[in-house]
Amino acid sequence: TDRYCVFGHPVGHSKSPVIHAAFADQGGDDIEYVAIEAPLDDFAGAWRRFVAEGGRGANVTVPFKEAAFRLCDTLSERARRAGAVNTLVLGGNGLTYGDTTDGIGLVHDLKRHGVELARARILVLGAGGAVRGVLEPLLAEEPASLRVANRTAAKAEALAADFRDLGEIAGGGFDAVAGPFDLVINGTSASLAGDLPPLPDDLFAPGATAYDMMYGAEPTVFLRWAAEHGARGVDGLGMLVEQAAESFFQWRGRRPDTAPVLERLRQALS
Ligand code: ATR
Repeated sequence: TDRYCVFGHPVGHSKSPVIHAAFADQGGDDIEYVAIEAPLDDFAGAWRRFVAEGGRGANVTVPFKEAAFRLCDTLSERARRAGAVNTLVLGGNGLTYGDTTDGIGLVHDLKRHGVELARARILVLGAGGAVRGVLEPLLAEEPASLRVANRTAAKAEALAADFRDLGEIAGGGFDAVAGPFDLVINGTSASLAGDLPPLPDDLFAPGATAYDMMYGAEPTVFLRWAAEHGARGVDGLGMLVEQAAESFFQWRGRRPDTAPVLERLRQALS
């Protein structure tokens, strides 16, 4: 039995154990995947203990993605850019390799929904860790432009500057946002509070997609607003499953079939 886990704090509500058990079932993989609440002041110790007990890899969620980044011996380029790690892999040499699969998970989910990213005009709302983690994979799709807008404009400007060498990206406040956009991605935590960033009514181009990295049984405030303004809405449940699939691939070398797993999670939500 190969052992994996998800580290978080809290971690009780994580869907990762269910998702990875389903992925493993598809190929008859003999794995164990558990949720571990790591201590807030010693993430590295929690990973070391897990490895000592036979752990092969782990997912990392809030609030440990930066601590996971710092303990890695080697990093993927996209993890280096993100400054965060959501996937730890124990190498045969005993070294820890870190990757972040959130951004590629988002890109895969967008493609699954038929969203054309090449030459698209993209707006991303927010400038926190969640957004930093998806910018490299989005820019790799060569959009026409990528605008980052945030309540604190200076954070969006600084974030855009960190990625300028990868493509056409600019940052600023919500007041500087001028559409139309083909794709608008909400990466703020505003939905959690039921808040909506102040956005102009003519944000969306015809056929535009609105994507919220959050998800729930009901559409988020942002997705309801988007529907009223003519955009198709997609929530972040698919991103959750796709990032997990990419982590599973890093560990097992096999790409799971995400569609039936997403379907089951969707049914369990409602
Ligand atoms: P995460 O790791 O989830 O990205 P974070 O780093 O705390 O979390 O970032 C939260 C993001 O949501 C930030 O962009 C934040 O805007 P500020 O940088 O101005 O704080 C944004 N955010 C949170 N609550 C918001 C609200 N009510 N309206 C608009 N933006 C909000």
